[in-house]
Amino acid sequence: MPSFSLSAFVATALAVSTSAAFEPTSKTNVVTYWGQGANQQRLVETCKNSAIDVVNIGFVDVFPDQGPGGWPGTNFGNACWGDVYEHDGVNTTLQKTCPYIGEDITACQETYGKTILLSIGGGSSNAYYIEDDTSGESFADFLWGAFGPSSVNGGQPRPFGDAGVDGFDFDIENEIIPAPTDSNGDTIAYATSGYAAMINRFHDTLFSQDPSKTYYISGAPQCTLPDSHYTTVMASAWFDFMWIQFYNSPQCSARAGINHIDGLGSDDISFSAWESSTSLNQDIKYYIGLPAAEAAANDPSYYLTPAEVQQLAKRFINDNAFGGMMLKSLRLPHRVL
Ligand SMILES: *[C@@H]1O[C@H](CO)[C@@H](O)[C@H](O)[C@H]1NC(C)=O
Repeated sequence: MPSFSLSAFVATALAVSTSAAFEPTSKTNVVTYWGQGANQQRLVETCKNSAIDVVNIGFVDVFPDQGPGGWPGTNFGNACWGDVYEHDGVNTTLQKTCPYIGEDITACQETYGKTILLSIGGGSSNAYYIEDDTSGESFADFLWGAFGPSSVNGGQPRPFGDAGVDGFDFDIENEIIPAPTDSNGDTIAYATSGYAAMINRFHDTLFSQDPSKTYYISGAPQCTLPDSHYTTVMASAWFDFMWIQFYNSPQCSARAGINHIDGLGSDDISFSAWESSTSLNQDIKYYIGLPAAEAAANDPSYYLTPAEVQQLAKRFINDNAFGGMMLKSLRLPHRVL
């Protein structure tokens, strides 16, 4: 048996040539998440899907202000072994040995043309918060040194080796009762505190240290407006994209949008309201986030059939601010996104 055949070569060449680079101004982008759960396949398997343009790796779910040793912590499901970095004489929660993520990021970018973002927050550990702007800026500096281009490393650990992500996603779902207080005993506005400073540190200062590629910031809000985490932050911080979760809230969901088209209810998908939101980035792109399967949603009614997705996309695809779809995969546990 020859180990190489012409048809295999053609198939490989086609696979590569059809995986064009992410085109942020296109309206047909597909975005997904990877990194949670005990049974997930390697990141590169997600990247082999030629329909996908952007993969968010989740999550950085412990923030420096709460993290042991003052470092952030990570959870990438079964992709890491469970050992952690030590800092200042304590074990942090930053996963150390994640043997394939780095090489898979590089393959995703170079072989498959994907854009890879590191996602901060998530819905499973939701007690994280940033105390103030100074702390938000140093959080950005740490992540940039640890997960940005290896050329800018300033002594931070590199859990993914030399591989660097293409930007950062903010999936902020924290809910802390009672609200945390600062050293003066004053309540911290934990839903918004520090995020604009952190995001603008990335966008205004850090990203330009590597002119070799374009870096992005995205957010993953729920669909209800005003949004306690994003509405004020996005007015003063630069987001390139919002992957909006149109599936946890019945009154503004994609399902409400379909029912509205069908004359079955007065509620409607809140996509147009998001497009009218005040955003520092006037060219921000909004994505319709959907469960990729019935079982990927908390409630199966949030799943839309392909025909329903087309029906919904037709309503918005001519809008300047429409960017595509975010699909939450079956493998992500319900509560994390
Ligand atoms: C960190 O955890 C490892 C593994 O449990 C342990 O051997 C080590 O002593 C811990 N280090 C510190 C500083 O607690």
